[in-house]
Amino acid sequence: MKNIMVTGGAGFIGSNFIKYVLANFDYNIINFDKLTYAGNLENLSEIESDKRYRFVKGDICEKKEVEKTVEEYSIDAIVNFAAESHVDRSILGAKEFINTNVMGTHVLLEVLKEKGLEKYLQVSTDEVYGSLPEDKKEILFTEKTPITTNSPYSASKASADLLCNAFYHTFRLPILITRCSNNYGPYQFPEKLIPLMIAKALNGEKLPVYGDGKNVRDWLYVQDHCSAIIKVLQEGTHGEVYNIGGNNEWYNIDIVKLILDKLGKGEDMIQYVKDRPGHDRRYAIDSAKIMNELGWSPEYNFESGIEITVKWYIENMNWWKKVMSGEYLKYYERNYGEKVNQ
Ligand code: NAD
Ligand code: DAU
Repeated sequence: MKNIMVTGGAGFIGSNFIKYVLANFDYNIINFDKLTYAGNLENLSEIESDKRYRFVKGDICEKKEVEKTVEEYSIDAIVNFAAESHVDRSILGAKEFINTNVMGTHVLLEVLKEKGLEKYLQVSTDEVYGSLPEDKKEILFTEKTPITTNSPYSASKASADLLCNAFYHTFRLPILITRCSNNYGPYQFPEKLIPLMIAKALNGEKLPVYGDGKNVRDWLYVQDHCSAIIKVLQEGTHGEVYNIGGNNEWYNIDIVKLILDKLGKGEDMIQYVKDRPGHDRRYAIDSAKIMNELGWSPEYNFESGIEITVKWYIENMNWWKKVMSGEYLKYYERNYGEKVNQ
């Protein structure tokens, strides 16, 4: 395995992954990205002149574009990050989620089959397992937890996982699936909870907390997700699913209060708004399989990860201010306009 095609490499986790791999391994990386609203080549400016890195603008739904890149760069493996990734957007409109997350994954699997590549890794999510009871803290998502999808986003990601499973069983292709919990860290698009709250607090705006703020998420620093993905790519067993998590459950409201505290701002900035429809109550991952079988463990605890993250957003206001202009603002009005007015 020498040449890795990273799809969706201009997004949050993909760009962190490319930088992590180039810094720690000797692979050539071909970043294949459509550059949707979430794709930003600025995320990769520090490595763009690295001889082992190439960018190709392309859509995973377009088979010819994928085939051409696979041939031109003698691709050995694909790591598929490309997706529509934001739950709220999937509630406003599911079409692009079905296109990219399901149809796009199908295209990649067909190319994998036809070209006989060495490996394919599908970057999936813990959201495919649905929601856990909040009063039974001992229950966690394992790889055996049944698929239960509650948002168009999670349904699209689960559909892709099922296709991967089918292509493994039917065609014996070298397919791996990872399912990770909520990521945070530098370069996360400020539509997701942590960067949105930091940006709003720094802008002196109200922080919109959905419902009672008591939904629970299990947070993992992005670089730890990246180290887990490369571990699975190199050492994982084909046809298997690997859960990845931080063993780090937080109520949303506590995260928001922590951010305000770190920024020296008051809790009067919090505004409770109408809940997300179908809002999953609790996610929590059991990472025992990847830890015991592959020897992976996270390097960052939440204290250090959130410190680095808040500092990064303070020092990189230009990055997120640019990102928050234009298309993003229109989306913001559509998603929050109605919630706040209720
Ligand atoms: P993101 O929205 O920041 O980035 C997605 C990237 O995919 C963007 O660069 C975008 O331009 C690209 N893209 C979208 N449609 C494309 C298409 N048709 N063809 C090619 N490129 C396309 O997403 P993220 O948060 O970095 O998530 C990456 C992956 O990890 C997703 O598959 C997501 O489901 C999964 N995941 C995310 C999290 C999280 O907390 N963010 C947790 C677990 C799993
Ligand atoms: O669990 C993994 C998933 O985590 C990934 O698959 C998704 O791609 C990623 O977006 C994320 O999904 P969530 O829906 O959990 O993340 P989000 O940051 O949108 O929301 C986190 C929690 O914060 C959730 O309970 C909703 C709440 N929230 C979110 C926003 C944007 C608010 O209270 N207010 C907000 O404005």
